[in-house]
Amino acid sequence: MSTTILGIESSCDETAAAVCKDGKIINNIIATQSIHESYGGVVPELASRAHQKNLIPVINEALVAADIKMSDLDAIAYTQGPGLLGALLVGSSFAKTAAMALGIPIIPINHMQAHVLAHFIEDPMPEFPFLCLTVSGGHTQIVRVNSHLDMSIIGQSKDDAVGEAFDKCAKLLGVGYPGGPKIDQLAKTGDAKRFTFPHSDIPDLDYSFSGIKTAFMYFLRDGMKKNDQFINENINDLAASLQGTLIDMLFVKLKLAAKREKIKNIAIAGGVSANSGLRNRLLSDADKYGWKVFIPKFEYCTDNAAMIATAGYYHLQAGKTGTLRDSPQPRMSFS
Ligand code: KG4
Ligand code: ZN
Repeated sequence: MSTTILGIESSCDETAAAVCKDGKIINNIIATQSIHESYGGVVPELASRAHQKNLIPVINEALVAADIKMSDLDAIAYTQGPGLLGALLVGSSFAKTAAMALGIPIIPINHMQAHVLAHFIEDPMPEFPFLCLTVSGGHTQIVRVNSHLDMSIIGQSKDDAVGEAFDKCAKLLGVGYPGGPKIDQLAKTGDAKRFTFPHSDIPDLDYSFSGIKTAFMYFLRDGMKKNDQFINENINDLAASLQGTLIDMLFVKLKLAAKREKIKNIAIAGGVSANSGLRNRLLSDADKYGWKVFIPKFEYCTDNAAMIATAGYYHLQAGKTGTLRDSPQPRMSFS
């Protein structure tokens, strides 16, 4: 039986919709909320309002691009969490209302699991089991993936996410929001070995990224005391050295996880997996450690609804649907 699924993503500052037909993504429509730029970070109330304004036009665009009507849908998948409560409410309210009106199943999706399942949007798809380093603005996780729906977090950040460290350090450099892509750009022409920053020492496969932000802040303050042009004159080297340190920290634990789990299929996912330094490091470590690596297309790294629709497809196949009583879960986890 053929299935057409609408995926809806509204967990943070992207309003997105995608249509998936029999497991294949037909389109991937995203409205990025630029309103947050002037505030230097996502303002939850403004995010909810922007979702409210953008959601229906974005869904419409996805349906038109797929040449279908609402009545052609067999199910609706939406992000249940984790994310901003007000933002999640917009997507889930639409999904529930539409599913009730159409009399079709509704599929609540965990956003972090969907980032992992972004690897199943297009070939090449990873072979099971694989490890996925999921790095976003709110989470840093090492996930052991046994099958599409059987995955467990084996390591994670105990405080800030790595994306948060990128964003907060970018703010200290005065380069604006979102900081990750800006640091990535500046780092391309910088010397990553010029400055060193301390690694945090956390047991097992877990991470801590709050210390580096503080160390970076004091480092910049001391540099500026000696030379008030310190940041301007060294911005590329500062960005490259910071990015190099964050990537080193990620890879220490990823290598440990690969060794411990005896897994050589390694994937990356989430917004920070768009980072060119991280992608290059994965490719060079693949050669060094005999890993088979999987790197998503840029459009599937950052938040999107194609990953939500794809996750919906695997849930529907397994008969895992939700109910109209489900509510958004801002701190939703899995395993
Ligand atoms: O997955 P995502 O789009 O949203 C969340 O679920 O959080 O990730 C957003 C994060 C932000 O912290 C952003 O700065 C970071 O991904 N990011 C990057 C790059 N592109 C996005 N970080 C480093 N380098 C990039 N090129
Ligand atoms: Zn995300």
